[in-house]
Amino acid sequence: MKWLCFALLLVLKSALDCEAYNTLLVFPNLSKSHTTLAFGYAKHLLGAGHEVTIVTPYPKEAKEIGHPKLRVVDVSESLKIFTPEVFTIKAVLWNETMSQYWKIMKTTSKMFFSYEEETIRNQNVQDLLNDHTTHFDVVIAEWFHSDMFAGFATVFNCPLIWSSTTEAHWMVLSLIDEASNPAYTPDMNSAAVPPFSLAQRMMQFTIQAIFKAFKFMYFSSRDKTNYEVLFGPHVAKRGNRELPPFEEVLYNGTLLFSNSHPVYGQSMRLPANCKEIGGFWIEREPKPLPQDLQKIMDSAYHGVIYFSMGSIWKSKDMPDTMKSDILRVFSNLQQTIIWKLEEELPDLPKNVHIVKWAPQHGILAHPNCRLFITHGGIFSVTETVFFGVPVVGIPVGYDQTLNIDRAVHKGFARKVQLAYDLADDLKLAIEEVLSNDSYRIRAKELSQMYHDRPVSPGAELVHWVEHVVRTRGAPHLRSPALMLQF
Ligand SMILES: *[C@@H]1O[C@H](CO)[C@@H](O)[C@H](O)[C@H]1NC(C)=O
Repeated sequence: MKWLCFALLLVLKSALDCEAYNTLLVFPNLSKSHTTLAFGYAKHLLGAGHEVTIVTPYPKEAKEIGHPKLRVVDVSESLKIFTPEVFTIKAVLWNETMSQYWKIMKTTSKMFFSYEEETIRNQNVQDLLNDHTTHFDVVIAEWFHSDMFAGFATVFNCPLIWSSTTEAHWMVLSLIDEASNPAYTPDMNSAAVPPFSLAQRMMQFTIQAIFKAFKFMYFSSRDKTNYEVLFGPHVAKRGNRELPPFEEVLYNGTLLFSNSHPVYGQSMRLPANCKEIGGFWIEREPKPLPQDLQKIMDSAYHGVIYFSMGSIWKSKDMPDTMKSDILRVFSNLQQTIIWKLEEELPDLPKNVHIVKWAPQHGILAHPNCRLFITHGGIFSVTETVFFGVPVVGIPVGYDQTLNIDRAVHKGFARKVQLAYDLADDLKLAIEEVLSNDSYRIRAKELSQMYHDRPVSPGAELVHWVEHVVRTRGAPHLRSPALMLQF
């Protein structure tokens, strides 16, 4: 009898150990590439048996994950403030289209500064907050220029995990520890690879100082008011608690997931509760390619060049002369080219294939893929390192310049300046990367370094989410820097 009880206890204990947690993912960023993170978290957590509720402006794509434990909260309403059609390559070639450039700036700032509010005000989110039968064990929220989403964890009275879209930068690190040192850590939107010159160090310091002042002047009070107005009533309705002050909630994140890895980013001094999980959304064995693409890639005797400017900066928006110049360069190459282009082009050279949508992982994973011509977004750079493919980078803006400068510095890439007449430079860069083996060798080497780790980043992320829940907010990982004021 004693033994039976003991066995029963053991079974019970193991059942409790693998308890399913209820997780809330707040990822309403309007740019589609950001949903890569959200869906990646969702898939790993669902795969580990947890329940996932995801706040996303792309509900249709989220539902395609197709899992009975997934609940989708639709905030596609806020897509109305996002006009992706203004993000055109033409507009960035800015001399000619200054007004277009300002449109980009306007949309970007709207996107940065008002979609969070829209998200919280959204009826579906309000319904979720009002639903007193729902409880969450942990909230994971993307940090993107606003601290407001900390309020979700306050309402549901559970630990908060921040997710950094790029490598953890000084702005998001200061929420869980302290700002990184500007003497050797760059701001994400400024291309600088250490060692910094004195001028660069002063520049980095100035960027931090200006942004900090800007945030303090314009956003701190707005975020605080929104926290009180938009989340306060929900905390009150749930009864048992006073609304904690925003200043406390803000610095109460338990963990930070950084979308990075030192192999393609920068090695950094990080607090114990910051975990680098860059690439967790990539499957080691990608889905099989569509048959036609598979055939094209299999039969490319001289290898394949894959060309994609990502999901926001569409190749179709390049000026026509630029497109025809690029085609001319391609037509003189022996390689097969797969160009992700959102339109048909007349008089295509035989070796150029246009695809409207590209299964990027599958293409990069193919052994015949020799080169990736990319805008250098963080997702593309991560994926190219994951599969070990060298790069020609044509950065358009934001963090892309830094990503490509780093790739050049690390020896697996060449950079081409975005310009009307980039074709000649592009030709030289392609020839250099294809003819000089060092780029390919370096890409393979870095890929091996990236994969040389105790567990996959996906397994790591599941572990840390569970750890945070099991330890009720992982207080032992908290940085003592947060005990100091300012
Ligand atoms: C801070 O987080 C911990 C752990 O998640 C939680 O128990 C506590 O209530 C939070 N404090 C505030 C002020 O939100």
